[in-house]
Amino acid sequence: MIYAANFKTNHTRQSTKNYIKELQSKLDSKKPEDKIYIFPPLTALDAFEGDFSIGTQNAYPVEKGAFTGEIGIEQLAEFNINTILIGHSERRDTLGESQEEVAKKFAFFREQGFEIIYCIGESLEVREQGIEAVMEHLISQFEGIDTTYNNFIVAYEPIWAIGTGRTASVEEISQTHNSLKKIVDKALLYGGSVKGTNIKEIASIESVDGVLVGGASLRTETFLELVLH
Ligand code: 13P
Repeated sequence: MIYAANFKTNHTRQSTKNYIKELQSKLDSKKPEDKIYIFPPLTALDAFEGDFSIGTQNAYPVEKGAFTGEIGIEQLAEFNINTILIGHSERRDTLGESQEEVAKKFAFFREQGFEIIYCIGESLEVREQGIEAVMEHLISQFEGIDTTYNNFIVAYEPIWAIGTGRTASVEEISQTHNSLKKIVDKALLYGGSVKGTNIKEIASIESVDGVLVGGASLRTETFLELVLH
């Protein structure tokens, strides 16, 4: 299983250091085949060593230059970071990233050989229209994306399940994941209110290769409940 922690706009440089130190001290008991990813906020990126990968939650598709407020490859290379989250619904919806921009970002970081965790997900309005509408929406989020790229993982995160405490049901996850696997044959993560009380049933779904976690990843105790479940 893959366990990915997305801190979003939480944690500081110091608290991230403490978190990683504490997490690393407990990772000996994880299964050797399990993979851990941590996506701290940009100010906390660093060259951490351990049995995990550090990724960036975002970057601008450029090496360096005049892009006020953004970071590029130069800033990531300082810490040997070559993993990136692209297409998170918070960036698409709150920060207004269009599919075209998301695809441009994907193409740039693919060129750079980055490992990409590519997020897709539908709104409640779409989910209520049924699985066909859901799939149509999810397929549209692969527009312009080279799905043959060998270094990427897909994260299915229904927007209505993010930070709401309302997880998608086992049936919803398994039906959606099965359909997605037919289209893009990649490792597939589920995200949306994953926590200690639902990890067992989510992890037992055959088409779930891992989880992308927000809220429950913020404390090492709750993240480890998932990793060591
Ligand atoms: P929550 O786990 O807080 O619902 O967030 C999910 C998410 O958006 C991870 O990227």
